[in-house]
Amino acid sequence: MRLLLIGAPGAGKGTQAERLAEHFGIAHISSGDLLRQHVKDQTSIGQTIKKYVDAGDLVPDAVVMDMLRKPVVAAVEAGGYVLDGFPRTVDQAKAAFETARALGVEVQAAVHLDVPDEELIRRLLARSRGSDDTEEVIAHRLQVYREKTIPLLDYYAGREWMFTVDGAQSPDKVHEDIVGRLQKLAAFDTSQADAASA
Ligand code: AP5
Ligand code: MG
Repeated sequence: MRLLLIGAPGAGKGTQAERLAEHFGIAHISSGDLLRQHVKDQTSIGQTIKKYVDAGDLVPDAVVMDMLRKPVVAAVEAGGYVLDGFPRTVDQAKAAFETARALGVEVQAAVHLDVPDEELIRRLLARSRGSDDTEEVIAHRLQVYREKTIPLLDYYAGREWMFTVDGAQSPDKVHEDIVGRLQKLAAFDTSQADAASA
């Protein structure tokens, strides 16, 4: 299974990706976690990207794409992935689609976690992860989300493998809704197959 999780900062991408990875026995790949690890380890990538992550700006596409290629290919070989935080722009989605198609590993479903801004801000301030969870940087991350990622949702709108879930519910209920919707997608595929063979 190959899934994407799309949502604003604090929408619960990490929380839900972890549960889906366990539920389906697939790898959880978080672009943000991998980038923060590079910063922590002070790798050359880490030194280049620290200023973007700290400011809540997007890291240049080429860095993110290069960083994800290996873990994604390895995950596909091991049964699948849930990608958390990538793609988050239309350009990233287009570039990733080309690469994935060439490898025959296109995504099968994209989940949009929808959460109101007030709840996002409440969660992020309560969590206070570090340099990018200050009030000022949170406001900027939300602005970047509106400018760069909402257009991605518009770009994916209407595709039958993309759906929105109410992410303001409890983590258990959000998980249940996602799994329920994925089962319906699987049913959709089966009915298509049946129709085709009938
Ligand atoms: P990234 O790490 O992706 O951060 P983000 O999008 O800002 O989102 P968060 O990780 O803060 O939130 P989340 O949606 O994972 O929610 P979580 O489950 O943690 O990106 C960080 C930075 O890296 C970016 O700013 C950028 O610089 C760079 N970057 C990453 N990807 C990139 C890309 N593709 N291109 C370019 N740059 C990139 O939950 C948040 C909190 O809420 C937790 O405390 C959790 O316990 C709580 N919570 C979760 N669900 C619920 C719930 N249902 N009810 C109540 N509380 C909940
Ligand atoms: Mg996260």
